[in-house]
Formats: sequence, structure tokens, C-alpha cells
Amino acid sequence: MEERPCTILAIESSCDETAAAVVQNGRKVLSNVISSQIALHTLYGGVVPEIASRKHVEKINPVIMEALSQANMRLEDMDAIAVTYGPGLVGALLVGVAAAKAIAFAAQKPLIGVNHIEGHVAANFIAHPELEPPFICLIVSGGHTHLVEMKDYGEYEILGRTRDDAAGESFDKVARAIGLGYPGGPKIDKLAPEGVANIPFPRAKVEGAPYDFSFSGLKSAVLNYINHEEMLGHEIRRADIAASFQDAVVSVLVSHALEAVHDRGYHSLVMAGGVASNKGLRSAMSAACEKQGIKLYYPDPILCTDNAAMIGSAAYYEFMKGRVSGYDLNAVPGLKIGQR
Ligand code: KG4
Ligand code: ZN
Repeated sequence: MEERPCTILAIESSCDETAAAVVQNGRKVLSNVISSQIALHTLYGGVVPEIASRKHVEKINPVIMEALSQANMRLEDMDAIAVTYGPGLVGALLVGVAAAKAIAFAAQKPLIGVNHIEGHVAANFIAHPELEPPFICLIVSGGHTHLVEMKDYGEYEILGRTRDDAAGESFDKVARAIGLGYPGGPKIDKLAPEGVANIPFPRAKVEGAPYDFSFSGLKSAVLNYINHEEMLGHEIRRADIAASFQDAVVSVLVSHALEAVHDRGYHSLVMAGGVASNKGLRSAMSAACEKQGIKLYYPDPILCTDNAAMIGSAAYYEFMKGRVSGYDLNAVPGLKIGQR
């Protein structure tokens, strides 16, 4: 007889996406509902925390109901309730955490607090059923840039991180500088192939920390370049700037990630987070990995950016390790990867 699957209702509200999903055994997605606030924040050129929280309050219940309904399940069918409790915007996180606590307490279900960044990594377990730790993972999102060794489910060693801006943040800032609007990542991704990467923007190395990243200098170099060109009365070649900037970010991500894979003796590499959906990064990383016999994994774009299915996957492995939260779970805006 087949064993009954472990079904988890997962909730995510750490930034500007209100999301809920139903996931079985950490790998099978029965529903994945995402209500994006992007259009709302576009007006202000970035996420406005207060508006995000208010919108989460409005959307959280309908999104959860929709996730259950699409999965054709009731709350009673759930084995546990999972929620992102950090890192993220405190007001935004609190909405999901409060909803999850209320539901778990009312239905007397176990509550599992999940680290958002670990959720991004777990998106790969949904996309690649055969993938298991250990592996090296490059996590590149709007708020985080990490190079980690995932030793086992829920066990991480941080090898490198950004010293300043996150990769996605630098995409967003440069996009704003060349008038592409928010969110900048997908817009630069789209414009870059129309240009030529002929502007020599810096590829920042952090002295004595081979796996660390620094993107703020690159952003300044782009701004200086634009000012300089404007002063000379030159036309701003937006597509060339997009291509050159993307090339600079991608080359650093590729070289650092491959160095970590080699140094740690791995033969596979995993990518996660919003920037992992970047076409330039995917193709450059794929080419470099193929050349060196490294197997590369990344999820579909919808699982790269914020969603609750990835939280349901990470939660399952926490649950299997007996790691559940109390009903007094609180939002931890500065939660670090691997921190419990
Ligand atoms: O992972 P995510 O949805 O949220 C965070 O946890 O931060 O990542 C959002 C970030 C934004 O900075 C966005 O501009 C970037 O990911 N992004 C991209 C692409 N799609 C999203 N950056 C580059 N190319 C893309 N195609
Ligand atoms: Zn995220």
C-alpha cells in the first residue's frame, strides 16, 4: 500500500508577493497561487513597505482559500501549516505569520516557520525531483546574494555573500538609472540582447574573500558613465548599457560559483532566486558548466521569483527533521540562512 503523502499549506508574504501553495512531500505542487503587487509599487519605483503590508492584509485570506480550492483540499487535509518568518519586510512578514499562526492554532496543526532564502533553494527540489543535497548553490535575489554549500536538508555553510547591494537590487537600480522602471531585472534582461556589451564596467573582487560579491561600485560606474556621456552630449545607448552591465554581473556570478564548485570538489551547481531567471546568467552559466562537466540546476522563472510552493518544499524537510515552531512564532526581518 502506498504511504499517505505529507501535505503542507505554505504561506509567503515577505516582500511584494502574497502567495499560498499546497505541496506534497516537498516535491509535488498541488497549487501555487501568487498575487503580485508589482503594478502597485511600480508607481513609486520600488516596494513601499507600508503599502505592501496593507495589500497583504487584503489578499492573504483569498489567496489561501484559492490555494486550497485549486488543490481541491480542505484545511483538515493538511498535515502542517508553513510560513515564511524571515528575512523580509517586518510588516509584510507579520501578515503571513499572523495568518499562519491563526490557522494552525484553530485547526490544531503543526506550524513550521521557514527561512525565505532557504525556500528559494528548495524551489529546485520541486523543479528537479532527482536533486538532493549536498551541492553548491548560488542564491541571487532582490534582497540577497549568497554562495552556499548545502550539506543536507536545512544545513548550510555560507561561503560568500554580497558586501553591499544584492544582485537583483543592482539590476533594479541600474534599470531605474536608464529609465526602464521597476522591477528592473526582467527589463534589463529583455533589453540586453538588443545591445552590445562594449562598455568596460568593473568586475569587483573583494580582497581576501574570493567568494564575496560587491555590486555597489558597478552601479556607481554605470551612473558615472551616464553622467559623462550626457556631459559630452552623446546619446545614451540604453541597450548597450544594459548588455554591458548584465555582462559584468553575470561574469562575476559565474566565476565565483564555479570557483566554489571546484574548491569544494563538487560536480553540480544549483541556482536560485529572482535573478536566476535571467537569460544572460542562465546561458553563460550553462555554457561554463558544460565546458567543465558540471551539472547545472535552476527552476522555471515562476519558481525563481517569490512564491509559496518553495516555502512548502523547504517546510517539508524541516518537518521531517522534527523542526516545528511554537504558536508564538514571530517575524525575524534579519533572519540569516541556516539560522534557527
Ligand atoms: O527572489 P525575488 O523574487 O525576491 C527576493 O527575495 O528578493 O527576486 C526579485 C529580484 C528583483 O530584484 C528583480 O529585479 C530580480 O529579482 N529579477 C531579475 C529577473 N527577474 C527578476 N533580475 C534579472 N533578470 C531577470 N530576468
Ligand atoms: Zn525572494
